[in-house]
Order: sequence, then C-alpha cells, then structure tokens
Amino acid sequence: MKNDSLIRLTKTGSPDDVSVHLIKDRKDLRDISGIENLRAKIAERVEEEELVFSVPSEHGLTIIVKPKKEDQLSYRLQSARMLGAKVRKILNSEQVKEATFVSNWDEKDNALAVIEGIVLANYQFLNYKTGDSNKPNSLKKLNVFSSGISVRDLDELHAVAAGTFAARDFVNEPVITLTASEWSKRMGKLGKIAGFTVKVLDRKKIEELKMGGLLGVNKGSVEPPTFNILEWKPKNAKNERPIILVGKGVVYDTGGYSIKGGPHMATMKCDMGGGAAVVGALSSISMNRLPVHVIGLIPATDNRIDGKALVPDDVITMMSGLTVEVLNTDAEGRLVLADALHYAKQYDPELVIDLATLTGAAARITDFHGIAMCSDRTDRTDSLKESGERVYERIMEFPMWNEFHEAIKSNVADIKNLGGVSGGNITAATFLHRFTDYPWVHLDIAGPAFMEKDVDYRLKGGTGAGVRLLYDFIKHTYA
Ligand code: BES
Ligand code: ZN
Ligand code: ZN
Repeated sequence: MKNDSLIRLTKTGSPDDVSVHLIKDRKDLRDISGIENLRAKIAERVEEEELVFSVPSEHGLTIIVKPKKEDQLSYRLQSARMLGAKVRKILNSEQVKEATFVSNWDEKDNALAVIEGIVLANYQFLNYKTGDSNKPNSLKKLNVFSSGISVRDLDELHAVAAGTFAARDFVNEPVITLTASEWSKRMGKLGKIAGFTVKVLDRKKIEELKMGGLLGVNKGSVEPPTFNILEWKPKNAKNERPIILVGKGVVYDTGGYSIKGGPHMATMKCDMGGGAAVVGALSSISMNRLPVHVIGLIPATDNRIDGKALVPDDVITMMSGLTVEVLNTDAEGRLVLADALHYAKQYDPELVIDLATLTGAAARITDFHGIAMCSDRTDRTDSLKESGERVYERIMEFPMWNEFHEAIKSNVADIKNLGGVSGGNITAATFLHRFTDYPWVHLDIAGPAFMEKDVDYRLKGGTGAGVRLLYDFIKHTYA
C-alpha cells in the first residue's frame, strides 16, 4: 500500500555530508561550510536568476538552490517546486540516500515548496518492473535544518504527498488488476492506515437503489460495479453539514459501442483520476486529522463492449427518476456521476465538489496546466481558486449559461447525454447540474490527471491532480 519512493522527512540540528542550501543571494554563501576553496567561483554563478547547481564539498556534496524572484505567488512557489525536482534528479544521479536541506529564510513557504518538489519528483511506479529495470530511486530520507519549519509542517507535507502517491498508484495500475472491486478493497486498506472509513455498496445494493446511470455503464462489463462511501468525521469537526467530494471512477473507458479510435483509447486507465483524487484527499485529510467532516462518493465501473452493453439510442432511468437518452456511450462519466450527485442529496451537504476526467473538450482547453471549472455558486469559489494558485492546480472558470441547457434537451427522454458541437465541458457540467440541489462545484481534470511526458515533479502517468488542491482548500476554508 505504501509507495517506497515516498521520502521520510525529519528535523535535524546540523547539516549532513550531503546538503542542499536554499539561498536568496551571494551573501548567504558565507554560512555554508566546506566550500571555502570554491566560494569565489560559486559567487559568480549565483548571480544567475533561477538555479540549482552542485559542487563537491569537503564533506561530500553541496547543492545550492536559488529560486526566481517572482511577485506572483503561484509562479514563485512553482519555481521553487521545479527547482526541488531538479535537486532530486541530482541526488538520485549521485546515488545519495540521505541529505540535509538547509534554509535560513524567514518565510517558510519557498522552502516547503522546494521540499515538496523533491518529494513529489521522487515518485516511482515499479509494480511491473522486473530484474534490472526495477531500479528504485536512491533518496530515502531528507533531514530539514531550518528554524522556521516545524515537525508538524513536515508531517503535513508528508501526508499530502502520501495521498498524492496513492492517487497516482491507483491511476497507474491497469484495469487487468484494478477492477472496481479490487479498487474498493484497496480503498478499504488505505482507509485503515489513514483513518477514514470505507463502505462499499455491491451490485445488489446498487440495483436496489436503482442507480440506472452506474448500472447502465456497467452493462457491458464482466466485472460488477461498486459504489464507495468514504468518510472522515472527527469529533472536533467545525462544519455542521458535511463537505462531499464526488469522484468519477471509470476504471477503464473504451468508449463502449461509441468506441474510442486507435490513439484515444490508450491511457484511459486514467478515467478514475477523479475518484483517485477523492481517495487521496480523504487520506491526506484524515492523516493530518483536519477538524472537518468530509465524505467521499465514488461510483466505480469500467466502460466496455458486450452483447448486453448500452448502444446509442438507449434510454435509461437514473436514480433520481430522470430519464436519459444515451446518444453516445463514450459520454459515460456524466451517467455514473449523476447517480452519485443524486445520492449526495441525503446528507444535506454544505458543499459538493465533483472531480472527473470528463471531457476531451476540457483537456483541449487547459492542457495539463489547469482544471476547467463550472459552478452554480460562483460567489463561493474564490477560496478554491486561491488554493489552485497556491498548489499550482489552477482553475479556469466557465459559465453555465442558460443557452447551454438547450443543448441537452432530448426528443424522447428528459435529457440526452450529448451536447452540441461546442462547449463540451460546459454541456457536460449542465447535465450534472440537473442532479444537484445544493451548492456545487464541478472540476474537469481531463487535462492534468495524466502526463504523456515528464515535466518537473509531474511525471509520466498519473499525477494525483486534485489531491493537493482539495487538501489546501478544505484546510484553509473549513479547518
Ligand atoms: N474519459 C473521457 C474524457 C477524457 C478525454 C479524459 C481525454 C481524459 C482525456 C470521457 O468519458 C469521454 O470520452 N468524453 C467524450 C464525451 C463526448 C462523447 C460528448 C469526449 O470528451 O470526447
Ligand atoms: Zn468516455
Ligand atoms: Zn470517460
């Protein structure tokens, strides 16, 4: 369950043989011991704007980190994380197992961002690497020498990274292993470690509840669906009514009979990225014991072809009683989410946020740089946007104009699961909105959930997008 690439973080009273120094300018070089002979040479280099470089020292290795001077908080912190990812690369190429991070800065946010960059960039998914190709990273432990950073800060960062790694692991695990049922089992195991509870509704219960969207998408599968209810309810919770996180849990999306064309199907193991983010967030929140009552709802199934699978033109009845004409079986995410959003009504929630790899339309707009949001309470989303800037999972907001509601009108049923040619991410949100009766935010993470290439700490494969955003938002808004 625990990923071995997660670095341990401790506080220390002195630098180690291998040390990483966060400096503001050349004056800070005076405090670094063991590099006396090289000081003049190093001083020349640190005139550069944004840099990481390593020099051999009397003790071993010294790495100097100097972040960019940047007024805007989101770019400033991201530059620090990016430098952290570079530091991690150097440490690994030198086969360093343990290092000390040194910072004398008063503001701890830059230092914590560098540490976060180091930790997040050390992630590996080695489950299917054998023999010589199974090469774990060397770095196991980072000791932090900085009066401004507390043990609590480090524990918090560690737990959020653990939640992010759990989400990445779930996304990276292929569907041949991670069926809906297997995923539910693994959520349960993680819940026991982190402290949240997991209740799994099986096919029989899902049928009793008449979750027509989840059952409809599951019709073509040989694996049963699951509906997962995760909960963190501490005694000291500050909110009276729960915050609910809903995650799309399509463990694989072939498109069904509206089958995905060649290049579009591979990587669709990422289609449970929203659900993975919800599990990761609950794990981070409960491990850090945030005083907030949070519930996670994850409808899980794969979307496949079979004699029994849905075909375009079918009409299904959702849990809410609304009928849906299915015109494209590849627009399955909204069908499974709709039942979960309806299910959420019984909790009388303070706020519901859903996360989903919902549309190619969103991915084409945001790329991996951000998240496409729609909400019916735009006055309440400022704090979420601020979190997005802080953790660099930035939010782009789209309106749900009345005209977009027209696009999902059906000739034969109450609504259809397909909109017009434009605004695909908005018509999808408009569809979901029909199943809500509470303050609601929809986050389409189709862009950032999965990387095709390595970029800083966002490595090829699942990114865990959404975990750090949700943690930061819930902490700053409700804890
Ligand atoms: N899972 C996909 C969306 C997706 C695309 C996620 C790219 C990640 C990366 C979703 O189920 C889908 O296929 N959506 C269709 C909807 C359309 C048929 C209305 C799409 O966006 O093409
Ligand atoms: Zn699809
Ligand atoms: Zn999908």
